Amino acid sequence: MASRRARSPPASKRPTRPPKSKVRDAGLAPRGRLAYEWARGHMAILDATLRRLGDSAPLRGVTLGFCLHITKETSVLLMGAKELGAEVAACPGNPLTTQDDVAAFLASEGIRVYAWNDQTPQEYEWCMDQVLACRPSILTDDGADMNVKAHFDPRFSSLPVLGATEETTAGVNRIRAMERKGLLRYPVVVVNDARTKRMFDNRHGTGQSTVDGLLRAANLLVASKKVVVAGYGWVGRGVAARCRGMGAHVIVTEVDPVKALEAHMDGYGVVPMSAAAPAGDIFVTCTGMARVVRPEHIDRMKDGAVLANVGHFDVEIDVEYLLEKSESVRQVRPSLDECVLRGGKRVYLVGRGRLANLVAAEGHPPEVMAQSFSNQILSILHILENHSSMGSRTLPVPEEIDAQVARDALGALGVRTDRLTAEQKRYADSW
Ligand SMILES: NC(=O)c1ccc[n+]([C@@H]2O[C@H](COP(=O)([O-])OP(=O)(O)OC[C@H]3O[C@@H](n4cnc5c(N)ncnc54)[C@H](O)[C@@H]3O)[C@@H](O)[C@H]2O)c1
Repeated sequence: MASRRARSPPASKRPTRPPKSKVRDAGLAPRGRLAYEWARGHMAILDATLRRLGDSAPLRGVTLGFCLHITKETSVLLMGAKELGAEVAACPGNPLTTQDDVAAFLASEGIRVYAWNDQTPQEYEWCMDQVLACRPSILTDDGADMNVKAHFDPRFSSLPVLGATEETTAGVNRIRAMERKGLLRYPVVVVNDARTKRMFDNRHGTGQSTVDGLLRAANLLVASKKVVVAGYGWVGRGVAARCRGMGAHVIVTEVDPVKALEAHMDGYGVVPMSAAAPAGDIFVTCTGMARVVRPEHIDRMKDGAVLANVGHFDVEIDVEYLLEKSESVRQVRPSLDECVLRGGKRVYLVGRGRLANLVAAEGHPPEVMAQSFSNQILSILHILENHSSMGSRTLPVPEEIDAQVARDALGALGVRTDRLTAEQKRYADSW
């Protein structure tokens, strides 16, 4: 089975006091500031949430540990947490997704940031170690690597963590697996599952940014192409809709019969990957599952097929097999590798099989991350206020927070809605 992460260093190597920050090039800070300002200017609802809370500095004295993609949108969340009084420490949720200018800007603002693009597995682990060595009391994770470390690495497994939030489906799946085994040692709020998060971030955010990644990496015409979307969950629905919108013939592969039926009734071709493999021009995996594109599929693909993954971990495409079977591999464009297989067939791999929308492009647009990160900030405050009664289990984002984020987003968009009348409320309560 494909492994998600590198092994931890031995317990004897106790973490020393972390440096203030470590980034690729501190000189990039002015460019990072521009990126931050651009994002903040388009994250009205997060900005409004921060302003509303700012005066009371509700996070004063609290150390927060973040393991998130270090993008311009994330910089707004981290700066916001600092404005609310928190001590902030951050590391990347993926070795290839850090925007170095943004990391430099955050470091220049006094945030403890340990992040640079293109890390080795050891560097990735080291950055996470530094964040945990800051002894955060609340963790915000994207993919659960930091929570796994805070549970099972003996150097950190007794940290007094009050609770955590999880940003993505893949992380929620891992946290729920730990919960089923009775291993969770603090509450985890599953921000991913808030309606104002996954219906927008996973669907519209990933939908748009995946097309952006495909275009930046390959810049081929999408219209007329057969695009194979593996997985018709929130992410797959978004990717399929955006590719269809650009004129692609979209084929969906699924394992869940209900999702497969939904895709079929939404008008997509639904076939097993074995049938999609020889037909597709572009493949996008969106499942959160391992080895969805396997050797038997790669062997049957057309010359020129483009492979991209937007699931959280780089386990969905058998990249190891692809590279092993290639007679030559060369980078032909930024974030695009040409793999020439025996017999001369060329297969193109986007972003080394890691999150194509973040590696080849910039990830989700700021408007959609404003919703996700408003949920994050409000969930962090919820943990701070209620951790003692939450228990060591997964918990949903409270409905009031979800509704508040939706109302804020509608307000920012200038959209007005109806409200139930008193008579309708009575009707709803009647039998
Ligand atoms: N790239 C990004 O920016 C980004 C953003 C959000 C989520 N994600 C990640 O994308 C992945 C999917 O997230 P989601 O919210 O859509 O999850 P989801 O659970 O809503 O959907 C996943 C779908 O994949 C299907 N599936 C599982 N195994 C499959 C297989 N072998 N073949 C075909 N289909 C299969 C499941 O049945 C399900 O319908 C996760 O890894 C998540 O963490 C990435």
